[in-house]
Amino acid sequence: MSETSAQSRPHVVLGVSGGIAAYKACELLRRFTESGHDVTVVPTAAALQFVGAPTWSALSGKPVSTEVWTDVHEVPHVRIGQTADLVVVAPATADLLAKAAHGLADDLLTNTLLTARCPVIFAPAMHTEMWEHAATVANVATLRDRGALVIEPAEGRLTGTDTGKGRLPDPGEIFAFATDVLARGGAQAQDLAGRQVVVSAGGTREYLDPVRFLGNRSSGLQGYALARTAAARGAEVTLVAANTNLADPAGVKVVRVETTAQLQEQVVAASRAADVVVMAAAPADFRPETFADSKIKKAEDGSAPEIRLTQNPDILAGLAHDRPHPDLVVVGFAAETGDANGTVMDHASAKLLRKGCDLLVVNDVGGGKVFGSEENEAVVLGADGSSTPVPRASKSAVAQVIWDRVALLLAAR
Ligand code: CTP
Repeated sequence: MSETSAQSRPHVVLGVSGGIAAYKACELLRRFTESGHDVTVVPTAAALQFVGAPTWSALSGKPVSTEVWTDVHEVPHVRIGQTADLVVVAPATADLLAKAAHGLADDLLTNTLLTARCPVIFAPAMHTEMWEHAATVANVATLRDRGALVIEPAEGRLTGTDTGKGRLPDPGEIFAFATDVLARGGAQAQDLAGRQVVVSAGGTREYLDPVRFLGNRSSGLQGYALARTAAARGAEVTLVAANTNLADPAGVKVVRVETTAQLQEQVVAASRAADVVVMAAAPADFRPETFADSKIKKAEDGSAPEIRLTQNPDILAGLAHDRPHPDLVVVGFAAETGDANGTVMDHASAKLLRKGCDLLVVNDVGGGKVFGSEENEAVVLGADGSSTPVPRASKSAVAQVIWDRVALLLAAR
């Protein structure tokens, strides 16, 4: 953290370049200011065509300028970047990425990017063709090589009638990504850069007929926190999400599934090229033996149908015992309760061995704890005999400890 802000609130520079998604940056700005960050908004001249200076000024509580000729005696083109703890450019247009990659400095934002020594996050938003153009691809690669965090755009409806990759991720998710980066500081922020990570999240549904299913209470929050924090640490993340109702984490490829069979197919496919797979999902252990193509009707005589169940494959054990490649780090979760046969940790140690994974994140779920909660408490057991307690903390904080343990294993491979 810089000297100035170490004495006060974290100082965030919000750069806004000229794309239609500039209006979403107002929500991002509000999230930062409401959570106690000191934000200086630096729009480009083009950004002001979309959202005017009074809006930025009113929401940030500060004057707003686009060029270096305002308040020259304060040397803003140097000072703003030097005193920042974090720079977030959202949306970042193709033009802005090109300028940043080439070190151009023809306005206040591009000057700020050259003087900032803190983590810099770009959240690009543009049409798919522009994002996929060789020039943009090269500029993004250059920025990443230099240590900038460039969030992959989301897929979906773009301006006009077309859809594709290029949307600005949900502002709440950019905020969560940014605060994860801010919390970890600059130097170690990207220890997962160049790593491919697969995370599963949510609970599977096993259908009886087209409208009924067996499900479970998993919210997906811990898996989403893992995906988001891995992306903020520089990893390329695939999140295989089963029946979740959460915003896509910024910069993460989200693959949606419903059943355990679909989850297995997607997780195994993504794990072939991955460095790490984390099974945070709750796949159903059983599924109905048969699926009725049409809705099962109530019987006239008041009897209920018998449902026979069959066991689902254990995805985690399958991945751990039959690894797609020997260097894959496999992480599992265990939701345990103590009973007459042993304590939570007794059951967890046995499960680690049985599943054959490298790390097992153990949650004590006695009394319905954890499900749907914003917080978690865990112990991370290692196949090497290590045991790392994670005191009660946000699911993001728990995720960071898990990635710390994973990063150690990756470094040793
Ligand atoms: N898991 C899996 N495939 C399944 C069931 C579970 O990959 N069919 C994974 C979960 O994602 C989690 C871990 O296995 O990472 C532990 O799940 P848990 O439900 O605790 O284990 P079970 O195998 O169901 O063990 P138990 O015998 O205690 O029910």
